[in-house]
Amino acid sequence: MTISLYTPITVGAYQLPNRLVMAPLTRMRAPDNIPTELMATYYVQRATAGLIIAEATQISPIGRGYPNTPGIHNDLQVTAWKQITDAVHAAGGHIFLQLWHVGRISHPDFHNGQLPVAPSAIKPAGNAITPTGMQPFVTPHALSVAEIAATIDDYAKAAKNALAAGFDGIEVHSANGYLLDEFLRDGSNQRTDEYGGTVANRARLLLEVVAAVTGVWGADRVGVRLSPSGTFNDMADSDPVTLFSYVAGELNGFNLAYLHLVDALEGDIRHGAKVVALEVLRKAYHGTLIVCGGYGQERAERTVAEGLADAVAFGQLYIANPDLVERFKRNAPLNTPDVNTFYGGTEIGYTDYPTLAD
Ligand SMILES: Cc1cc2nc3c(=O)[nH]c(=O)nc-3n(C[C@H](O)[C@H](O)[C@H](O)COP(=O)(O)O)c2cc1C
Repeated sequence: MTISLYTPITVGAYQLPNRLVMAPLTRMRAPDNIPTELMATYYVQRATAGLIIAEATQISPIGRGYPNTPGIHNDLQVTAWKQITDAVHAAGGHIFLQLWHVGRISHPDFHNGQLPVAPSAIKPAGNAITPTGMQPFVTPHALSVAEIAATIDDYAKAAKNALAAGFDGIEVHSANGYLLDEFLRDGSNQRTDEYGGTVANRARLLLEVVAAVTGVWGADRVGVRLSPSGTFNDMADSDPVTLFSYVAGELNGFNLAYLHLVDALEGDIRHGAKVVALEVLRKAYHGTLIVCGGYGQERAERTVAEGLADAVAFGQLYIANPDLVERFKRNAPLNTPDVNTFYGGTEIGYTDYPTLAD
């Protein structure tokens, strides 16, 4: 039988009706870092996706690096997220939460003057998006081993909070140049202790975080996101094929719900990415694989039919097409995403994209 995007799939503890996944999408519409009713409307509109991975959500105040992103480290946030998960469940959807620590992609203005944290005191090129506009990144504080242990604890607490907030699972954000990715890659990790140097040492923090959060949730309700070819946020590694093959191999031991890979994007290639081919990690990883990054309907169909991935996540297409499943099924035209309303703002460019039924 040929597998299509509409062939049901078991992902960890869940039977999902299709293989279209809503990618995690930061939309910066959570004033005071608390989720809103408008966010519930937005996610409910997209509940026909086989799985929604809700936007990156900080596990702790120091894990924050953008204005108006939601958190999952206090009771108000848990209560607010619960309204969203209840609404998505009432609409028949499944929703995971992406757990986020930005690491060095932050600014002292978010932290009462305190430095952002990272594996090593290496300043990324570029600017932080702060409440008062763009400001150059600063040289971060290199975490001590004791501070790393406290950070793992923050992940475990956030995982417990996500459970209390009624999510179906969590995705560990280890992609796109944020804290866990910073530890993985030798461009940002130049530690000389057990968290730096060898591939095994650089992967240690991610694997310890995964152990901590699967201890809370069970492995069949936990996914991990990696961006092996990513250059975003000034990321680089001398040998990503070896690094990410090792990580995929170690993750096999957990029996996770899924591994979620961001493919090389156009921008990565422009920035000279050393591309890790999907085929390499498909071989290295033995469980359910979700792939993301510039996929349209035809390429997604082909990728799933060829068995290169089990499901496909869509970012920009899900921003603009709440009924993406229906549109794909009918080969209907797609709405165009408006980049000006991606980050921050109101319902405009957020909950007002029309469905076919409108
Ligand atoms: C507005 C916007 C916000 C994003 N926020 C996140 C995020 O919170 N977490 C994450 O892992 N990736 C994030 N991404 C990356 C997407 O999940 C996805 O990997 C990327 O957009 C490529 O997929 P696409 O070509 O289908 O859009 C974001 C992308 C966009 C455009």
